Amino acid sequence: MKFVATDVDDSVAKLAEKLRVEALRPDHAIDSYFYRSHLVYERELRELVFRSWIYAGHVSELQKPGDYLLLEIGEDSLIIVRDDSGEIRALMNICRHRGARVCEHASGNRKTFVCPYHGWVYNTDGSLKAAREMNMRPDFDMAAHGLKRARVVVYMGLVFINCDPEAADFLGPLQHLNEPLGAYDLANARVAHKQTYRVDANWKLVLENYLECYHCATSHRSYARMHTLKDLDHKVADVVQAMLDRTESVTGVKGMGKEHHGIYLGAESFGCCVYTSRYGLFDGYLTGSEDGQPVAPLMGHIQGYDGGAGDFQMGPLSFMLNYPDHCVLYRFIPRGLTATDMEVVWFVNGDAREGVDYERDKVTWLWHNTTLEDEYIITRNSEGVNSHFFEPGPYHPEFENTLKEFIHWYLATLSASL
Ligand code: FES
Ligand SMILES: [Fe+2]
Repeated sequence: MKFVATDVDDSVAKLAEKLRVEALRPDHAIDSYFYRSHLVYERELRELVFRSWIYAGHVSELQKPGDYLLLEIGEDSLIIVRDDSGEIRALMNICRHRGARVCEHASGNRKTFVCPYHGWVYNTDGSLKAAREMNMRPDFDMAAHGLKRARVVVYMGLVFINCDPEAADFLGPLQHLNEPLGAYDLANARVAHKQTYRVDANWKLVLENYLECYHCATSHRSYARMHTLKDLDHKVADVVQAMLDRTESVTGVKGMGKEHHGIYLGAESFGCCVYTSRYGLFDGYLTGSEDGQPVAPLMGHIQGYDGGAGDFQMGPLSFMLNYPDHCVLYRFIPRGLTATDMEVVWFVNGDAREGVDYERDKVTWLWHNTTLEDEYIITRNSEGVNSHFFEPGPYHPEFENTLKEFIHWYLATLSASL
């Protein structure tokens, strides 16, 4: 992690003044203040991250009662667990006695969670099962000291959490993805691989990089060879239209080429971003692999390669790029002012067997390498943005439009919090 000098004059008044200046130049990158301020970072966690729906895991990782995985956000930790009744829960990994973590290992199976400090024991649904010798306090209420919970929804096998008890419903907006995402049958998919890439940069720089493909032609040679997203729309309109014209007949999935755009300020409710579109691969490429040829069996209900890829967003921080034979999920989570976890999950069809139907290295090749290229360029970006002489430049009107939507939502949310 890189450390950023604390601004000892930082204050809410300073934040308000910085926000006022940003409103005067809406088409520009934002001031380094927003990447350097500890005050802003705390506020972002409270006002944005802990109020947003975030991908937490896949049902195949939580098959049996007691199966769990940890989700680390900022300095916090949540236990995502299937409880003894079969329900998936998100529990705050904070003992209700004096606050120790009750679970340390990243994943596994537990009958109970036992706090290592003084031994309080919690059931898999978070309720307190035993608190050693606490019966000496007649006023002690076991029922009032279960682990705190976050909200959980499961959509097509994807588990999402939200730390805000008042968060708006997410399943409603997600229905816009039913046809194009349903094609992959993710509820029965297999996680072929997942990897966390720690990036030494503020989370916004990492997310901003994902939200624009202006850098694709220069930073991602392999990606740019096959994906039309690296070009302006009018330059690849023919390739994309030809793909869309054959999508339904080739894939056999009605609604496969559907578009829906409801993200950031345009989301149905706060933190409920939902987006989908299908974009084209250049001629000769069937999927996102080293040579553009299939690397796994077709997924779900898909019957053929149409030369397209499905682009999805679910919540402000979680995305998918889905090829006919494998899907790649991206999630961005702040872990400090200058530390971000970029989680990448590769899915293949549920009955695909590793070593027989697919090689893990071939499935992960493109996006592992592309992610390393991103990490390289984001950390260079972070160096410059954190310098005292950085002056924000103008956004590209087309390539950086989605990034701009994020920034406008971000600034609006901070402004509303004042
Ligand atoms: S902090 Fe967990 S039992 Fe004391
Ligand atoms: Fe990139």
